[in-house]
Amino acid sequence: MLAATLLAFVGGVAATNIFVTSYAGNITTLSLTEKNGTYDLTPVYTTDKCSPNPAWLTLDTAHGILYCLGEGVNLPNGTLNSFLAYDNGTLTHVEQQEIPTGGVASTIYGNAATGKRGLVTAHYNGSAMTNWALDAQNPGSFSNIQNEFFYMNHSGPNAARQASPHEHDAVLDPTGSFIVMPDLGADLVRVFSINPNTLELTAESPLEVVPGSGPRHAVFYQPYGAQCKGCTSFMFVVTELTSTVTSYAVSYPAGGAGMSFEKIYETTAYGNMTLPSGNAAAEISISPDNRFLVVSNRNNTSFEIPNPNPANTTKIASDSLSTFKLNLDGTLDFVQLAPCGGSYPRQYSMNKYGDLVAVGLQYGNAVVILQRDAATGLIGSEVARHYVEGQVNSAWWQE
Ligand SMILES: *[C@@H]1O[C@H](CO)[C@@H](O)[C@H](O)[C@H]1NC(C)=O
Ligand SMILES: *[C@@H]1O[C@H](CO)[C@@H](O)[C@H](O)[C@H]1NC(C)=O
Ligand SMILES: *[C@@H]1O[C@H](CO)[C@@H](O)[C@H](O)[C@H]1NC(C)=O
Ligand SMILES: *[C@@H]1O[C@H](CO)[C@@H](O)[C@H](O)[C@H]1NC(C)=O
Ligand SMILES: *[C@@H]1O[C@H](CO)[C@@H](O)[C@H](O)[C@H]1NC(C)=O
Ligand SMILES: *[C@@H]1O[C@H](CO)[C@@H](O)[C@H](O)[C@H]1NC(C)=O
Ligand SMILES: *[C@@H]1O[C@H](CO)[C@@H](O)[C@H](O)[C@H]1NC(C)=O
Ligand SMILES: *[C@@H]1O[C@H](CO)[C@@H](O)[C@H](O)[C@H]1NC(C)=O
Ligand SMILES: *[C@@H]1O[C@H](CO)[C@@H](O)[C@H](O)[C@H]1NC(C)=O
Ligand SMILES: *[C@@H]1O[C@H](CO)[C@@H](O)[C@H](O)[C@H]1NC(C)=O
Repeated sequence: MLAATLLAFVGGVAATNIFVTSYAGNITTLSLTEKNGTYDLTPVYTTDKCSPNPAWLTLDTAHGILYCLGEGVNLPNGTLNSFLAYDNGTLTHVEQQEIPTGGVASTIYGNAATGKRGLVTAHYNGSAMTNWALDAQNPGSFSNIQNEFFYMNHSGPNAARQASPHEHDAVLDPTGSFIVMPDLGADLVRVFSINPNTLELTAESPLEVVPGSGPRHAVFYQPYGAQCKGCTSFMFVVTELTSTVTSYAVSYPAGGAGMSFEKIYETTAYGNMTLPSGNAAAEISISPDNRFLVVSNRNNTSFEIPNPNPANTTKIASDSLSTFKLNLDGTLDFVQLAPCGGSYPRQYSMNKYGDLVAVGLQYGNAVVILQRDAATGLIGSEVARHYVEGQVNSAWWQE
């Protein structure tokens, strides 16, 4: 094992891969390399096996498996796919199953030690939660556990976007015992308890958020960076329809009866600046050092940036990323609104050092790599860009 590792290190050029999904049909592996301060972003592999409309990836790094959701835009069904993910960026397709339409986010839960692990998926247009048992003996194999569909009898305040439930994210809580699922259509954050033996999910009392706000994604924050005993964990929810970021103190009623939330802080995704109309906040995540919260802003351009083509002097419009400093009491201090390299940053991810950000630009049809100062949290200039056919909707580091 040690010899093989050393051999690989000596023989190989260290490359960092980024997996990219596009609605046009491919997962593309981009290889990022740096030489004397200049970055190069080059495609090394593509696969169309996550059709129709790849929209989201969940990387199981420890097992070298990549799960991909084919959203199935305007179709009755989508797909869940698994791939063996090799260090060189190659993806070998293992399995595809038809699932309800609109799969837009998934996450792994369960116990790695016992091998009892599941994948839970949020279905936007399918108004559903589905979950899957991951086969520990056959890497990449999975089988359906539950398909749970949600209903609403009356449209929410935003009739166009809230005529039915729209599950948008699936997030494991810090105790590993619950899944939370923001529902953009129903203005709820649904809560499910996990049965560790069967991996079945049971609906608990949901968190009701501001009507018409459209909760989209969520992230948990443990202020002391460790499993919290006698301290408070927080959940940050970003809404799409009103672009708010809300902090909730999380508690666990005795007897395992779900989760309780107390709202303690709220700001717009623009912090202390005026939120432009039409802004549609999208992704939310915490930096690897647990010190900053970053949110992506779409659909109203705050910046003009130099044309990516240096020969063209016409500036281009750019949406933005907002950075907030996390405080131990769950409040936020606004730090920066930064250009993100182009239009509609549906999703972004930071590398493990927190010094680079890969942004998926849905209408910019590109992945852009931005520098980030991990000490100050400030997002800086673009160091690399690669255009990908179609609407780019996510970009993930293979780390
Ligand atoms: C997907 O990748 C294949 C192989 O590189 C390429 O031929 C095809 O044009 C790509 N399709 C799209 C829609 O990007
Ligand atoms: C490295 O970059 C510096 C600054 O741009 C430049 O002066 C130097 O010539 C470069 N060295 C090599 C080996 O390319
Ligand atoms: C969602 O479903 C409706 C009909 O049920 C369809 O008109 C619409 O195009 C679908 N949207 C997406 C993104 O799939
Ligand atoms: C990538 O790695 C896999 C597993 O080691 C190997 O089978 C495959 O040939 C490699 N592909 C390339 C292009 O090097
Ligand atoms: C396909 O979509 C239909 C309609 O939403 C749904 O009832 C069915 O369960 C889906 N099929 C699978 C295999 O999930
Ligand atoms: C919605 O209507 C159905 C019957 O059409 C009913 O069974 C269900 O309880 C209603 N749900 C709510 C939340 O009112
Ligand atoms: C963007 O926001 C500005 C300021 O609120 C507003 O004037 C403009 O109409 C908005 N543009 C769009 C496309 O929503
Ligand atoms: C984008 O902004 C326009 C104009 O303000 C608005 O009509 C539209 O609904 C917005 N789109 C999204 C996805 O929020
Ligand atoms: C320069 O960039 C602008 C903005 O993207 C574009 O509209 C224009 O066509 C470009 N001009 C040339 C000559 O490529
Ligand atoms: C907003 O926050 C930034 C970053 O903390 C700060 O530099 C700026 O002065 C603040 N602006 C206002 C109007 O408070």
